[in-house]
Amino acid sequence: MLAGKRILLIIGGGIAAFKSLDLIRRLRERGATVVPVLTKAAEEFVTPLSASALSAEKVYRDLFDLTDEAEMGHIELSRAADLVVVAPATADLMGKMAGGLANDLASTLLMATDKPVLIAPAMNVRMWQHPATQRNIATLKEDGILFVGPNEGNMACGEFGLGRMAEPLEIVAAVEAAIADGPLRGKHMLVTSGPTHEPIDPVRYIANRSSGAQGTAIATALSALGAEVTFVTGPADVARPQGVRVVEVQTAREMLAAVQAALPADGAVFAAAVADWRMAKAVDMKIKKDGKGSLPVLEFAENPDILATVSQMKKGRPALVVGFAAETDDVVKNATAKRKRKGCDWIVANDVSPETGIMGGAENAVVVITSDGVEEWPRMGKDQVATRLAAAMVQALE
Ligand code: CTP
Repeated sequence: MLAGKRILLIIGGGIAAFKSLDLIRRLRERGATVVPVLTKAAEEFVTPLSASALSAEKVYRDLFDLTDEAEMGHIELSRAADLVVVAPATADLMGKMAGGLANDLASTLLMATDKPVLIAPAMNVRMWQHPATQRNIATLKEDGILFVGPNEGNMACGEFGLGRMAEPLEIVAAVEAAIADGPLRGKHMLVTSGPTHEPIDPVRYIANRSSGAQGTAIATALSALGAEVTFVTGPADVARPQGVRVVEVQTAREMLAAVQAALPADGAVFAAAVADWRMAKAVDMKIKKDGKGSLPVLEFAENPDILATVSQMKKGRPALVVGFAAETDDVVKNATAKRKRKGCDWIVANDVSPETGIMGGAENAVVVITSDGVEEWPRMGKDQVATRLAAAMVQALE
């Protein structure tokens, strides 16, 4: 529910703007107050009258509208909100945000705000793929801007691909995640997830079967309890959680760097299936057959242990560090030893033998090992494991 929440909704100029009118309705149904801001281009697609009729609020349009300045200055307008949502976020608006431009009301509000900003990009697939947009996305993610979508599908322009704005209800879910009131409000939680890919040469890599489902569910559950979540993920199969800060990495060393950059955090969950080894030497060219049948010998080096590194930090260690243990035998014994060795507070151990169907599956059967002992949880959905783990973390952090 969004009762009592105030959302500043910046509507950019794209064909998806018509969906933003529905978004206003959906947000208001949940109790939010929605204050619309229209860019000049947005007015080509939706009228200020329809935005104001649906929101029952004054619609803001022009930076130099003195009446507005007298009533509420643009600084105040941007800060009176609990969340700023940009939907649709056009390539142009994203470029302005990434470049720090402030030449109209929308971009000025985005520069002036001290509140979280959630954007729902919408543009033609080629525009989405353009290196300039990709650079802007990376910059915006680094700045902590939250993303919802875009989705893949048919576009108004007749092309197919990534670039369709997320549906209004998906945006509502991301809004709820971004401003959820809950016991973890004000807390920063870090979650690692997915496999890592360690390149053998430019075309081959070492990986594992982790889908990222459990880590994604944990990030979603923590966020639903009001936490600000940084989600550091390897190349996972499942869709990224909405309303959290997503940092994409490939290798274990990149994951460690991203985790260190994201600290400090109040709590951290290391659900990633990090590759234990990488190639000892980087190979820049594809390894070729030599025509004589001789086989390549791969020489490995050990990857840094991210969980152990963070658990053993002398300064700035998160108050609660939770590791996972993927075992195929002697689960409790191995995981108990792992908890001690790595120095984390809790270990969530699971049996990843192929017959359990856990790795890559929808369910999990875990044993949670803490300094108080061993707790066996019944087999349940990964979402339920996540909810229960998040609730236990709330208690531990109180
Ligand atoms: N982990 C990590 N960095 C690594 C390896 C593992 O952060 N380089 C974390 C995982 O995210 C997980 C925990 O350590 O939370 C245990 O992972 P697991 O694969 O079970 O253990 P390993 O340390 O790889 O030990 P082993 O393979 O010997 O069982």
